[in-house]
Amino acid sequence: MKENLQRLVNDLWKGSGLQRHFSGETTYRPQLAEKGHARTIVLFFIVVFIGTCVSVRWIDTSIISSGGVSLKALLTSSNSPEESEDEGFVIPLNCSQVNNLSQVCSTSFPATFPSGSFPTGATTKQCPHYFRWIHEDLRPWKESGITREMVERARTKSNFRLVLVDGRLYYEKYSSSFQTRDVFTLWGILQLLRRYPGRLPDFDIMFNCNDRPVIRSRDYEGPNATAPPPLFHYCGDDWTLDIVFPDWSFWGWPEINIKPWIPLLKDLKEGNQRIKWDKREPYAYWKGNPKVCKARQDLVRCNVTDKQDWNGRFYVQNWVRESRQGFKKSNLADQCTHRYKVYIEGAAWSVSEKYILACDSPTLLVTPHFYDFFTRSLLPGHHYWPIKDNDKCRSIKFAVDWGNKHKNQALAIGKAGSNFIQEELKMNNVYDYMFHLLSEYSKLLRYKPTIPPQAVELCSEVMACPAGGLKKVYMMESMVKGPTYRSPCMLPPPFDPPALEAFLKEKENSKTQVEKMERQFSDKIKN
Ligand SMILES: *[C@@H]1O[C@H](CO)[C@@H](O)[C@H](O)[C@H]1NC(C)=O
Ligand SMILES: *[C@@H]1O[C@H](CO)[C@@H](O)[C@H](O)[C@H]1NC(C)=O
Ligand SMILES: *[C@@H]1O[C@H](CO)[C@@H](O)[C@H](O)[C@H]1NC(C)=O
Ligand SMILES: *[C@@H]1O[C@H](CO)[C@@H](O)[C@H](O)[C@H]1NC(C)=O
Repeated sequence: MKENLQRLVNDLWKGSGLQRHFSGETTYRPQLAEKGHARTIVLFFIVVFIGTCVSVRWIDTSIISSGGVSLKALLTSSNSPEESEDEGFVIPLNCSQVNNLSQVCSTSFPATFPSGSFPTGATTKQCPHYFRWIHEDLRPWKESGITREMVERARTKSNFRLVLVDGRLYYEKYSSSFQTRDVFTLWGILQLLRRYPGRLPDFDIMFNCNDRPVIRSRDYEGPNATAPPPLFHYCGDDWTLDIVFPDWSFWGWPEINIKPWIPLLKDLKEGNQRIKWDKREPYAYWKGNPKVCKARQDLVRCNVTDKQDWNGRFYVQNWVRESRQGFKKSNLADQCTHRYKVYIEGAAWSVSEKYILACDSPTLLVTPHFYDFFTRSLLPGHHYWPIKDNDKCRSIKFAVDWGNKHKNQALAIGKAGSNFIQEELKMNNVYDYMFHLLSEYSKLLRYKPTIPPQAVELCSEVMACPAGGLKKVYMMESMVKGPTYRSPCMLPPPFDPPALEAFLKEKENSKTQVEKMERQFSDKIKN
């Protein structure tokens, strides 16, 4: 166990070039390891150019806002409504035991709390609509349940396995993932346990950190089909059965300077107020890396030139230059400058969707093929404006002309998108989504999870104490201070089949309506 833990710690932090903190401090003082930071950025380009596509065209320039502040100050200086509604108690990170690897987690954060220390009364707050998809994602196992054999069949497609036994989390690594996706995903789950200790049932999950979903439905159909292996992943599409889970970026993406969601959401709110909507450039804006897929190359061809103007203003994200200049031109909060913003997928879903939607500028959303945990509940014509993927230029031109003529309606769409992000997707809801998804998954298990022999115990100390640089800063910024007194929101029941059909039909109808308007408009131009 001890060697495994040592290996894990080395593994997680090796090659980061970042300063280690094994010094046994009990309060943490963030230090920016500039050199390490630069190195991770360089690493990022190399990988980006070999073609990952969950590229974020966004980066945040405010490198470290909490420099020099002690952990205690970080933990107690929060007045935002998000946190105040959450009052609980603070359990500090105790790094003094990390030197003794044999007992790091066993004496740290409590796995359970004595009954009676939390109100168990039912909450009356309904979870947002997108929680309903939890039931849909787990539907393939509703009748059969989930056996250990099914879980283990997902192993070859997994980066790691996580097992919760009696409130303690055990981790078994199978393969490395891109950048720190796995690190911040694990960190996120640990924070969920800090928020709701002792309230999650035992689980046993396999996790894949790549771009594209992998469990193809067609491999598990027909009379003699075996049950699909349950696999957690960040996105899905209509042909796959991956169970969708919030991506790592909610806890930060240090390689490209993307802060954890709570401080970033605040920045975005402020940035959004800088230029009033009707004072913004009356065009559609996009900035990103078009190399990653054909659809994006198509999009860039709709850019303005001296021969054409489809109302698009599109820019290539030059990571090399950006990093040299300290990400100055990539601050997410500075990008609410145009009245419309385009969202287009890369090789799979893109984490940028939540940032684009947060600007009050209607999102012109090129028909997506992938979904993540919240996007299936976004409605065309309400939260965003649909753009045809096989006729992008014309579709964008129409959207912008229409919006500039119907400003109130356009702004209403922009606001609905931003409100969705600020309210329904706030961090409390992200945690509650994870809570309900894992709880519902656990209910399907037909066996009692046990600790895999090769697994090591994980806790926030194991990950955060030895971390350095921006990784550590983001971990501290996204650390849950302690258990909340709040109960998770109430999970809505599954869609009944007619309701699901009606919902999908409504989405399709609004899209068709926009397409009809678009056709009439282009006919008018021709005549
Ligand atoms: C941290 O853990 C050590 C070892 O268990 C303990 O002696 C110390 O009191 C703890 N510190 C805090 C602040 O809880
Ligand atoms: C580490 O933990 C073990 C087991 O509890 C204990 O016997 C040992 O004395 C500890 N070592 C140090 C250096 O604290
Ligand atoms: C399913 O299994 C049965 C019994 O083993 C066999 O007769 C049948 O051909 C199989 N069907 C398919 C589609 O493989
Ligand atoms: C799009 O056009 C603008 C304005 O001419 C230009 O600055 C920008 O570099 C162009 N973008 C691309 C991707 O060519």
